[in-house]
Amino acid sequence: MALRQIRYDGDDILRKKCKEVKEMTERTRILIDDMFETMYEANGVGLAAPQIGILKRIVVIDVDYEHPYVLINPVIVEQDGEQTGDEGCLSLPGKVAEVTRPSHVVCKFLNEDMEEATIEADDLLARAICHELDHLEGILYKDLAEGPLRDVEYED
Ligand code: NI
Repeated sequence: MALRQIRYDGDDILRKKCKEVKEMTERTRILIDDMFETMYEANGVGLAAPQIGILKRIVVIDVDYEHPYVLINPVIVEQDGEQTGDEGCLSLPGKVAEVTRPSHVVCKFLNEDMEEATIEADDLLARAICHELDHLEGILYKDLAEGPLRDVEYED
């Protein structure tokens, strides 16, 4: 595994639409491993492939550092409810802003074996899925933010 360079806001690649994954290859498996390593190293709870410069529809998420998910070609097929709260992004380090998202989503995707799977998610996991799927369309959370981006206040 290897750490990859995270792309930051202002990099054009973050604004491009990603392509579907057609087949699992060794190269893609390595990419997924590297995405997890890069996400954990940066203390993130989610990372989308374009954030490391790869325009493929692949997302990794682990909101509690116990349940890692790989979502390939993910699509939200149901959503309801509403939650408003602070959101951040590894591509906009040190910043947060309020974003309203559905409180519940159902997402269909392919797993690492390219098998169809479904995840039903609430609260933070639902927020993370929405945020990461937006990256695949070139959307950043700041586009949806209801107030200004604020500096994260770190605890001592
Ligand atoms: Ni992000």
